[in-house]
This record gives sequence, C-alpha cells and structure tokens, in this order.
Amino acid sequence: MKDNYGRKIQYLRLSVTDLCNYRCIYCMPETGIQKKAHDDILSIEEFTEIVRAAHSLGIRKIRLTGGEPLVRKGVITLCRNIKAIDRDIELGITTNGSLLAPIAKELKDAGVDRLNISLDTLNRDTFRSITRGGALQDVLNGIIAAQQAGFEKLKINTVLLAGINDGELLDFIRLTKDAPLHLRFIELMPIGVAKHWKADRFMTAASIEGYLQNAELKAIDGVARVYAMPGHQGTIGIIGPMSHSFCPTCNKIRVTPDGKLKPCLHSDQEIDLKGLRDKALIQALADGIRQKPESHRFGEASDSTARFMNEIGG
Ligand code: 5AD
Ligand code: SF4
Repeated sequence: MKDNYGRKIQYLRLSVTDLCNYRCIYCMPETGIQKKAHDDILSIEEFTEIVRAAHSLGIRKIRLTGGEPLVRKGVITLCRNIKAIDRDIELGITTNGSLLAPIAKELKDAGVDRLNISLDTLNRDTFRSITRGGALQDVLNGIIAAQQAGFEKLKINTVLLAGINDGELLDFIRLTKDAPLHLRFIELMPIGVAKHWKADRFMTAASIEGYLQNAELKAIDGVARVYAMPGHQGTIGIIGPMSHSFCPTCNKIRVTPDGKLKPCLHSDQEIDLKGLRDKALIQALADGIRQKPESHRFGEASDSTARFMNEIGG
C-alpha cells in the first residue's frame, strides 16, 4: 500500500530483540541496557501475526534485526512462519555474525534468503575494543559457514569510524577481490550513543568514495551506491544517510521488540501494535503506513528518536 506521499511501502524491518551479545561503542552504552520485562516483548506468534497483517497490506520484504536477532529464542521458528505465510516474501537477517556458524545451515533451510553481517574491522584488537570484548574469529567463522550453507550475495556492513577503522578501508576492499562479498560502508548516524559523539568521528560518503578511484559505479541499490573494482568478484557499496536524503524513495517501516510500529527510523512517532489482532492490527499498520513522515533532518531535536539503535535495528 502507499503512504500519504505516494511511496509504495513494501519493506518491514522487525527488531526481534533489543539484547545483544556485544556492546559496540557507537550503539550501546558501556554499562549495557536494562533488560525489558518478558511480557513487554512481542512473542514469536505476535511477530508472525504482524507479518501476516503486513503481508495483506502489500509488504513483500522482511528483515529481522535487533539488537542481535540470533540471540532471540525462536528466531528460526519465526523465519519458518514468515515463509509459510508466503514463500515469495524476501526474508533477510542483519546479524553481527558471532552466533551464526552453528546455525547458518538451519537458517538457510528455514527459508532465509539474505544475510547481512555487520563487521567493522578486520583487526582482532580493534574488533575487541569496538565490540567491547568480542572475538573477530567468531564472525569470520560465521561468514565462512554462511558461504558453505549456500547464502549467496552475502553483504558485509561496515560503519566507518574516523580514527578507529578508517585505515582499514583498503583491506576491506581487498576482501571483495576473491570472494563474492558485497561490502556496504555506512556513514555513522548521530543516534543512540553516537548522538553525543564529536563531529571528528564521522566520515562522509564523499571521503569514502575517494578510495574508489578505479571503481566503476554499477548501480544504485536501494540506499546504496554500488561500485565494482575491475577484476573483483564482490562489490563495494556506500550508504550515506548523512550525505544524501533517502526519504523520497524510502519504502520501509519498522517494528520494535516491544511492538511499536515506527514509520520512520528518525522520528519518535510510534504506534502501539501489542495486543492487537486481525482487523485491528491491519488497521493500525495501515494507519502507520499512511502517516509515515515525508522526511527528516538530522540534528533537529524534534526529528531525532530517543531510542537506541539496538531497539530499532538500523
Ligand atoms: N550509525 C550507523 N549505523 C549504525 N549501526 C548501529 N548504530 C549505528 C549508527 N549510529 C549499524 C550496525 C549494524 C546495523 C544494524 O546498524 O553496525 O551494521
Ligand atoms: Fe550489537 Fe550490532 Fe549494536 Fe554492535 S551494533 S552492539 S553488534 S546491535
């Protein structure tokens, strides 16, 4: 269905948990987050009903996010449920990859079509400090297991942090030479913890593009400008939410772990879906889609969400 500005809304992102086994410095406070009460979090059945209602309104693409979606109990059941509603729903998961290795095959068998793996550094020590304690090898094992399980077009999401991992740009680009990995460099957004970061930590899409002198611009894929280096199997995409406004073509809505529909990532507008069923649920989703804001601007207090990224899922 279309929103009030004529945008066709086909993409739903479900943040299935606000918990994560990492506490990345730009995402989570050092002290971690307060665990929500079990009853406040949507059950797997409730998520399934939301997908069913959204599908009836024309949603055809679902992505599970978090927090870390793979820490959520029942996530594989949810994947199966979604594919049982419609085999043709394109189902993706955005994961930090650390828990992926043992279940990659199971996720594939449950019908997951796409995996995006977040990986901000290829250096063990930097990895440990960005994630506050994580082991790089776990994620590398996850990537290998995903390839072996038959996931094609694996995407690697890398948030560039000036002075922390920007020196690794060429190492990341090199990764795409011999493997069909699709990198996505993402501009850091000033939300959650990063809202209070100084400007000198933020890198612009233009400065990233400076590293891609020999590359050819292949496509605009949703929110990414996608480049290919000659002779490389994979591609390199740049997602610049700060540099370019995606609002005119935004086709997404989001649901938080506690069942709030967020028509826009950057707005505090929320519609409570918890406890709604059948017609009432469809009605609430349709209202939310219609009311999706036309645009947002970073830096305006009224346009900035109070939630942290681990509740919205990027
Ligand atoms: N800006 C940009 N990306 C972010 N992510 C988390 N916080 C931010 C932020 N402030 C990313 C994660 C992950 C994806 C789900 O969102 O690194 O790749
Ligand atoms: Fe977890 Fe992803 Fe946030 Fe890191 S960025 S703490 S992996 S949810």
